[in-house]
Amino acid sequence: MIICTTAAELNERLAGARKEGQRIGFVPTMGALHRGHMALIRASVTSCELTVASIFVNPTQFNEASDLSAYPRTPRADEELLIAHGCDFLYRPDVADIYPNGDQESAAAELDFGSLTERMEGAHRPGHFAGVAQVVSRLLDIVKPRVLFLGQKDYQQVAVIRSMVRQLDLPVMIEVVETVREVDGLALSSRNRRLGPQERKAAGLINRQLSAVAAGLLAGWDPEKLETAAMDAMQRHPLLNPEYVEVFTGHNLLPYRGGPAAAEIVVACAVHCGPVRLIDNRIAIPSNP
Ligand code: PAF
Repeated sequence: MIICTTAAELNERLAGARKEGQRIGFVPTMGALHRGHMALIRASVTSCELTVASIFVNPTQFNEASDLSAYPRTPRADEELLIAHGCDFLYRPDVADIYPNGDQESAAAELDFGSLTERMEGAHRPGHFAGVAQVVSRLLDIVKPRVLFLGQKDYQQVAVIRSMVRQLDLPVMIEVVETVREVDGLALSSRNRRLGPQERKAAGLINRQLSAVAAGLLAGWDPEKLETAAMDAMQRHPLLNPEYVEVFTGHNLLPYRGGPAAAEIVVACAVHCGPVRLIDNRIAIPSNP
């Protein structure tokens, strides 16, 4: 695996592959890699001729300085995992390489995400999606991949990036890879490393509650009552503090309140577990083809 720390070096190294029209797959990450990221790498390695991963802990998408400083960093282990899974290039820049003109400049600054950023992470983490759109637009401009691989765990992030790609008319396809889970259902996340043993055990309840909501929706129960029941169940646990549980329609991320489903119906939540804020979602009712 070739490691590049600057956009210039990466572009130089990729020039030949681009000239030959090779299909480049790109997996953007913030490091502290785990099996969830490896599912993205595997998806790229199996469907593209070249796989580029990036590791950049993007300061502009953190709305809490403490979350940014506590974000786990495991550079050596990350390299080993990427090599073992067949990644060809790792782009690991510093802030100056990503934001050479300062971090106020963003190709995505003028975009309108409408209802996609109004609720959930958009409402609870001010500025988060502006930072995500800023860094992903910059990374896409540097890597110029044919396919961008994203994890379903960040459902709202996927919706925002899809909208960004459409609005900026970027020549890239988006592949979404299913969430990888621990045996008790906890979605893999870099932040899970910060959970103590009791918190780790408690975190298993998050997916059980989402699954209960999904089963209730399939049975035709009232979405709002299901949201409240899941919130209450998590609130009762001494180590969990849920921020939201929302049932929404996949195409606009607006609340689903019952009736025929126009698109897939999803339930998502954010839950504080000790010092860590976790997010997860489940597709409750798939879209009607
Ligand atoms: O999902 C993430 O890890 C980040 O939001 C991303 C897409 C790498 C942008 O920094």
